[in-house]
Amino acid sequence: MNSTVSVTAPHVALVPRPTQHTAQTAHVPPAAAPHTTALLRAEGLVKNYQRGRHLIRVLQGVDLEVADGEFLAIVGQSGSGKSTLLHLLGTLDAPDQGCIYFQGHRIDQLPPAGRDILRNKYFGMVFQFYHLLPELTTRENILVPLMIRDGLLRYWWGRRQYVKRADQLLALVGLEHRAAHRPRELSGGEMQRAAIARALVAEPSLLLADEPTGNLDRHTGQAILDLLRTLNRQQRLTIVMVTHDPSIAAQADRVVRLNEGRIEAA
Ligand SMILES: Nc1ncnc2c1ncn2[C@@H]1O[C@H](COP(=O)(O)OP(=O)(O)OP(=O)(O)O)[C@@H](O)[C@H]1O
Ligand SMILES: [Mg+2]
Repeated sequence: MNSTVSVTAPHVALVPRPTQHTAQTAHVPPAAAPHTTALLRAEGLVKNYQRGRHLIRVLQGVDLEVADGEFLAIVGQSGSGKSTLLHLLGTLDAPDQGCIYFQGHRIDQLPPAGRDILRNKYFGMVFQFYHLLPELTTRENILVPLMIRDGLLRYWWGRRQYVKRADQLLALVGLEHRAAHRPRELSGGEMQRAAIARALVAEPSLLLADEPTGNLDRHTGQAILDLLRTLNRQQRLTIVMVTHDPSIAAQADRVVRLNEGRIEAA
């Protein structure tokens, strides 16, 4: 496939990396005293789904710690709950039981506005099925997190710089030639790469990536992984990556397996 995928990390930092201080000004409430240096910590997560009269038990007590700057891979069988776990960690859904802490602050009980702030400022998310907005071009899709984070007025103020950054990311993931295309005009792998660029545009401190190489051929998948590794090393981007590919997982700092609703060392 596309041989133009570059593996160089972006050098332009348009948005300052969030600090502990900005975390406080973002009103992430100090719900509990931090007792760990982990960037992200999950304790006893339980998640069930009710389907008709059936209760589907997915997570049955997940404990997980992700250190600041770590590159963690989560593997597990299809249906084992990997996406469910990533959605909980990203505060897109709430656990039935258990707690999640980010920078020592409890985040699983945040009100919707607090969760939005948290996600917009600190989290980048790559969804398994991309969730690109169909009416927007690839470039506009990549810009969406900045629009949401800044609000329209501030966004328009900084737009020239932001477009430059979006174009850098498009080049990084080998999609310059698809900047003005809409998602329906992209292949699965191209949508996946657009989703990765979108997740990186606001320079998150934590990237939650669900099968980020799942739809890519080996060469392009490896190039994306090299990019993530470079961002992890150069910019201390903490990464939690779900993958079913053992050769991709093996390149992370640590691999854990989700099995029968719990985390075990892989
Ligand atoms: N919204 C939902 N309502 C009901 N059941 C759900 C829902 N979301 C997920 N499930 C069920 O929860 C289980 C775990 O799903 P999940 O998508 O987390 O698995 P996964 O490990 O990501 O699988 P895959 O590797 O195929 O992506 C599955 O049995 C799925 O059918
Ligand atoms: Mg999944």
